[in-house]
Amino acid sequence: MDKQFFVVANWKANKTILETSDWVKKFSGEAVGDSYLEVIIAAPFMALDTLKTHITDYGLTRYVSVASQDISMFPVGAYTGEVPGEILENLVTYCLIGHSERRRYLGETTEMAGKKAEWAMENDITPIICAQTLEEIPENINRHSVEKYLIMYEPFEAISTDNQYRPESSQKINEVLVQWQKKLPTGARLLYGGSVNQENITDLMMVDRELLSGFVVGRASLEADSFSSIIRALATSRN
Ligand code: PGA
Repeated sequence: MDKQFFVVANWKANKTILETSDWVKKFSGEAVGDSYLEVIIAAPFMALDTLKTHITDYGLTRYVSVASQDISMFPVGAYTGEVPGEILENLVTYCLIGHSERRRYLGETTEMAGKKAEWAMENDITPIICAQTLEEIPENINRHSVEKYLIMYEPFEAISTDNQYRPESSQKINEVLVQWQKKLPTGARLLYGGSVNQENITDLMMVDRELLSGFVVGRASLEADSFSSIIRALATSRN
């Protein structure tokens, strides 16, 4: 199996600049580099520069990339508080778009996700479009080739909260991805996110690798050692 597989750390609203430095230092000592795995770290905006610098300093650029957790749906200009693609362009390779937490707590819509995806691609940033249902995937992405974006299946109920992990079963993920694959352009790359951790990764790896191109890890990515365990499990599962 040689297709590229992605492991995304979504730190959400966690980690100061100092904590970011500590994390990368620990991670650099533990993680295994494997050419079939691409590790993506989605950090808060103010930690991105530190993250990128450390990834370079520790020689991790070959397999670790930086992502933002959002991007503006506007270009540079009079949009207070927004961070547009032109500013992120040289800092990140990927950005999460339309995460269910943003949809739920900040009123983000699929239309907004569509605009954000356009600005990301316009600035050579690969959007990771998060969706709970097919309807949440903005239609405009169909105008772009499948190499330009990633799609994450992310059922809100499966997201860890209050220290509880509640992943969807590999069987259910398979069923959903089969349906999505029928409707999406051929070759669209699909990720799963929701309560992935070092204990359940073996079960979740049962999802058909023809359907799945990666995992997004929230809570279990906050500690470098648990995130590294997940990466090691994926690297050794390759055959
Ligand atoms: P979780 O988060 O792994 O903490 O459930 C996943 C996500 O929402 O990206």
